[in-house]
Amino acid sequence: MPHIKFLNNGEESCIHADTGSTVMSVATMNNVNGIVAECGGGCSCATCHVYVEGGWFDKLEPAAPEELELLEFLEGVQPNSRLSCQIAMDTELDGLTVSVPPQQG
Ligand code: FES
Repeated sequence: MPHIKFLNNGEESCIHADTGSTVMSVATMNNVNGIVAECGGGCSCATCHVYVEGGWFDKLEPAAPEELELLEFLEGVQPNSRLSCQIAMDTELDGLTVSVPPQQG
């Protein structure tokens, strides 16, 4: 079972994820601060914004146009920004590391 490392305000949590689950769902089910996910994964709220760390960004499937549109005007966006509801876990992503933007956490 792959795991995800969440970094938030200097704290680190390592959480196992079912294959096929999204990073957002793993975060909300495990009460990771700063991942609100108001729209429940519908790619319309951007309250699941994360920074993908440590070289993992290039290993993800590219963002769809609707995700890029939401990210475009989001406060705190960086080149490694993604919406965590759009990242589905698989075994190749074991160890994926994301940080919660400080303005959310
Ligand atoms: S949960 Fe709303 S955009 Fe990701």
